[in-house]
Amino acid sequence: MTPAIEIEGLKKKYWKGKVVTTEALKGVSLSIPKGEFFALLGPNGAGKTSLISILAGLGTKTEGTVVVNGVSIDKDPDTAKSFIGLVPQEFNFSIFEKVLDIVIDQAGYYGITKAEAMPYAKEILTALGLWEKRNDQAQTLSGGMKRRLMIARALIHKPEILLLDEPTAGVDVELRRSMWEFLKDLNEKGTTILLTTHYLEEAEQLCRRVAIINHGEIIEEGSVKELLGKLHITTVLLDTVESLTEAIMQLLRGEPLVREDENTLKLTLGPGGTMNEAFRKLSSVGVHVTNVRSMGSRLEEVFIQLIEKKDAKDATA
Ligand SMILES: Nc1ncnc2c1ncn2[C@@H]1O[C@H](COP(=O)(O)OP(=O)(O)O)[C@@H](O)[C@H]1O
Ligand SMILES: [Mg+2]
Repeated sequence: MTPAIEIEGLKKKYWKGKVVTTEALKGVSLSIPKGEFFALLGPNGAGKTSLISILAGLGTKTEGTVVVNGVSIDKDPDTAKSFIGLVPQEFNFSIFEKVLDIVIDQAGYYGITKAEAMPYAKEILTALGLWEKRNDQAQTLSGGMKRRLMIARALIHKPEILLLDEPTAGVDVELRRSMWEFLKDLNEKGTTILLTTHYLEEAEQLCRRVAIINHGEIIEEGSVKELLGKLHITTVLLDTVESLTEAIMQLLRGEPLVREDENTLKLTLGPGGTMNEAFRKLSSVGVHVTNVRSMGSRLEEVFIQLIEKKDAKDATA
């Protein structure tokens, strides 16, 4: 089956005059099947927004190919764009317009009349808890509501693919969860979703597959399960007799030990790492461990380790 999104060797350079200031994407390849719920995970400046903008037809690329639903964005940009709904990172509607108008006007760009758009506008605004606000100016909405308005606007032409660029940045925890439910439901009904995030929990909760991007390159790709299994990282909590003062933590600098609270240390063990080394170090600085608790491995640790490993390699290259 034709993938929803097929990216090959995608490069993006930003220029200032004749000088390249940033290589935001350095040859990214990705294939996302139809129906997938995919996360592009990476820290700030990794290249996520650059990639999303090119996919949505907003940004230009320097090199590479992008095919949406079998349609090249170079050969037939309008058709390629029609498959996509975009929820950009920054709010970009007029704050003086009314909620319903913002959604209906967007339908107009796709040649959908107001009368045609209205039933679906009502359905999605209701599902997103915004129907009651339909006649209010967008500036009266809370941050979370503005974000949901952008989702409603992105969906009005019933796109097969929804792109969301950091959809829950700055959204409080409760709202984030209800947005996740909405997106899960949308995906189950058949919409392919690609979201970018730097919240690991978001990728872990929502997505089947994850690609980790850093400095414009995909450094790892797989199912959340595969990524977690890959590095055999374990995290344990160590309860200590002594209070973990600033002075003690100074002595432990450079060790894979982080202060969790007054009497608890978090130890992260990479492949081949043993607890013995940590225990030796701790006893040498006079810290006694009374209890060891396992935390299991989390995507967060995998993510940090991958990025640190990559950065260390770049530093020596
Ligand atoms: N319009 C621009 N002009 C110059 N550099 C840019 C521009 N947009 C982004 N960049 C740079 O490209 C890199 C990737 O940015 P971006 O795609 O926004 O990453 P992310 O969304 O992952 O934070 C960063 O180093 C950023 O500073
Ligand atoms: Mg971004």
